[in-house]
Amino acid sequence: MNTKPKILITGGAGYIGSHTVVALLEGGFEPVIVDNYCNSQKWIMDQLKELTGQIIKEYTVDCTNLKELDTVFENETFAGVIHFAALKAVGESVSEPLKYYRNNVGSLINIIDLMSKYNVPNLVFSSSCTVYGEADYLPVNEQHPIKTAESPYGCTKQMCEQIINDCIKSKKLSRATILRYFNPVGANTSGLIGELPIGTPNNLVPFITQTAAGIRPNLTIFGDDYNTVDGTCVRDYIHVMDLADAHVKSLENMESKKESFTLNIGTGKGSSVLETVKAFEKVNKLKLNYKIGAKREGDIEQIYAETSLSEKTLGWKTKYSLEDAMRDAWKWQQYLDAK
Ligand code: NAD
Ligand code: UFG
Repeated sequence: MNTKPKILITGGAGYIGSHTVVALLEGGFEPVIVDNYCNSQKWIMDQLKELTGQIIKEYTVDCTNLKELDTVFENETFAGVIHFAALKAVGESVSEPLKYYRNNVGSLINIIDLMSKYNVPNLVFSSSCTVYGEADYLPVNEQHPIKTAESPYGCTKQMCEQIINDCIKSKKLSRATILRYFNPVGANTSGLIGELPIGTPNNLVPFITQTAAGIRPNLTIFGDDYNTVDGTCVRDYIHVMDLADAHVKSLENMESKKESFTLNIGTGKGSSVLETVKAFEKVNKLKLNYKIGAKREGDIEQIYAETSLSEKTLGWKTKYSLEDAMRDAWKWQQYLDAK
């Protein structure tokens, strides 16, 4: 008889979700994926099979479809849910706000409704350091005030956090861990799964790897006169495998303490855009074609995490460096190019 706790992973075919599937298997859980493939590819399921040697159960379901999602909960007995499924393109959220509110907020409401109906106790939710906006102090801790959202995308994360907290208060939801991710980068060290941007990447690291691969002629660094170490923006880049591990630890922690948490998930270290480019060049022994361009509208000058609460609460610490992440991101890009 299979006694492994079954965990629903919405958005499990996506970037962070697919890495978390691997971490869950390693942690003795049985992941079950729900994804509608609006921002991922079905062949990732084959990659997961190759990487883990296991066939992962998958439902092609849209989380905004309550009826179909109910069937999943009816068929399975979940010990917890990790809710990744969301749209995440900041720019698109400005031009199509309703799409973002409907998808991101609507999905979460359905998930909580069904967790309540089927008595599923533990929720892990993907939030973002975007809730802090331009931080008043650094490193930013979890007590930092939530600022007015810069975009509808950021607003959906704030609303979802509020919904979760209200549902815990009303006992509609037993407990949750809200994880505020800083900047997830890199790929599984195998090079078999990684980030799959559709079209031109918005994020720095896929843009770097696509430039190195010759898909893009050059990287434009958005501004070099910020008040930072070298004038370029500073972020807290966390290896996606460390981030995935934090989800497993969050489930274990909630199950043992029977409490809810809101935690920063970052490395605690800020790196500038130029430092990140240099780390990529150094570890991969490559020269990257880049130029300095205009500032990007709405960019935060610098942000990095205070991580003591998450480390203490979860008994978790990052293992991988920025260079490790740049090596693995490049390995994944090369795998994609050869495919
Ligand atoms: P991703 O787009 O790679 O993965 C999201 C997955 O969810 C995709 O496979 C997509 O097809 C699926 N999905 C979206 N809407 C769905 C729906 N209604 N029903 C079923 N499936 C749906 O994104 P990611 O980078 O893996 O992000 C995962 C989560 O982490 C998201 O909630 C995102 O907002 C959050 N987050 C990401 C970052 C980042 O930089 N990647 C930073 C902070 C927070
Ligand atoms: N950058 C460049 N050139 C590029 C792309 C990015 O210089 O071509 C710079 C940006 O200006 C920024 C840094 O690289 O200074 C990182 O940019 P990303 O777009 O990779 O990441 P952001 O921190 O701006 O945004 C990310 C997610 C958002 C999320 C936010 C906080 O994309 O969805 O983290 O979690 F809201």
